[in-house]
Amino acid sequence: MGSVTELEAFLARLSREPDIDAPELQAYDAADLLLLDAARSLKLRDGDVVVVGDRHGALTLGLLHETALRGLRVHQDGVLGERALTSNATRVLGASPAQQTELFQHHPLGSSLFGGATLVVMQLPRSLSELEEIAWHIATHASPDVVVIAGGRDKHMSHSMNERLGRYFGEVTASRGWRKARMLTARGAIRPLGDPPFALHARDPELDFDLFAFGATFGGTAFDHGSRLLVQTLRERPPSPDPTHIVDLGCGNGVLAVTAALQWPRARVLATDQSAAAVAATKLTAQAAGVADRVEVHRADATDSVPTGWADLVLLNPPFHTGATVHTAVAHRLMRAVPRVLQPGGELRLVFNSGLGYRPLVERIIGPTTQLARNRTFTVLSSIAR
Ligand SMILES: C[S@@+](CC[C@H](N)C(=O)[O-])C[C@H]1O[C@@H](n2cnc3c(N)ncnc32)[C@H](O)[C@@H]1O
Repeated sequence: MGSVTELEAFLARLSREPDIDAPELQAYDAADLLLLDAARSLKLRDGDVVVVGDRHGALTLGLLHETALRGLRVHQDGVLGERALTSNATRVLGASPAQQTELFQHHPLGSSLFGGATLVVMQLPRSLSELEEIAWHIATHASPDVVVIAGGRDKHMSHSMNERLGRYFGEVTASRGWRKARMLTARGAIRPLGDPPFALHARDPELDFDLFAFGATFGGTAFDHGSRLLVQTLRERPPSPDPTHIVDLGCGNGVLAVTAALQWPRARVLATDQSAAAVAATKLTAQAAGVADRVEVHRADATDSVPTGWADLVLLNPPFHTGATVHTAVAHRLMRAVPRVLQPGGELRLVFNSGLGYRPLVERIIGPTTQLARNRTFTVLSSIAR
């Protein structure tokens, strides 16, 4: 490891905003430092370097800070990560929007991102299927001599990651550990034959439609246990009168949006998620269930894409972690975004881990709240907007 003091001082100036911010959470980690240090000794050509999974801009801005590179291609699954990168570029580099376009551009996973790339610098995703999906795209679209450096923290890494990369690269090696992080290097891309191994889909016995998922879709193709309890309350204690304007906030694989569209055939459903993989999955789930004409899907933070006072029902199964960190602030952010979009008399139907005790908050910001169900793990509440 070369000298990291100056680089680390630069990264320490980055902020996680607008992603949740808290003193114990920082905008870079040891894996970012390892990757940036390794990139110093690799061949870097303008336009041929790709960054994947950058959380808040540390990799992209670190590369721009360390080198004279231009035209970085960047993929971040989440809208909040994209916004953090942009606002850090403005604040720390002083780059205007036009200058930022010269420095880096956002791309979806695919040929526009990886076409002809010679170096991919990435934070290892937590899910193996996300890693496989990224590796498939790199091996399919990048230059045959592409080098991939992928970093992660030891506690989130496993040998299965080497194996997944090994399906698409002839050589995969691991670095020594440093500050409880390490780096995998993959070379010798093996062009995959046949169709991409995603989107995945599966049918849960309690549903009469398939759930679709890409690698980064929260929960994959599974019917989440919290959502299961929420859906049970929709069947047993449906809102009255029938809802006509429904929001699925944080739609994941689309299970709640599609359940609602099937239960209320005259309703319009707006499904929204900050994750590109969730949005793509929900579209497929809705198409396969034959309700795509009534399920509109948006990639946006919280309720940003929902008009004020539009909804008479909001369905919410909020996450209780951000990245690898357990943190209730993400759920708070989503709950606080609900009152603006609910009509007076409209309902928030919320499921959460019972230990989290969100009831006082929703009672205060939305209105009178009733517990509709509770099992060993989850609670479902109904809050009616004042
Ligand atoms: C627990 S999952 C629920 C997924 C699906 N609704 C279900 O019930 O299986 C929470 C979802 O919230 C999304 N999410 C997290 N933060 C968000 C934000 N700020 N804005 C929109 N969606 C967000 C995540 O990407 C994830 O898909």
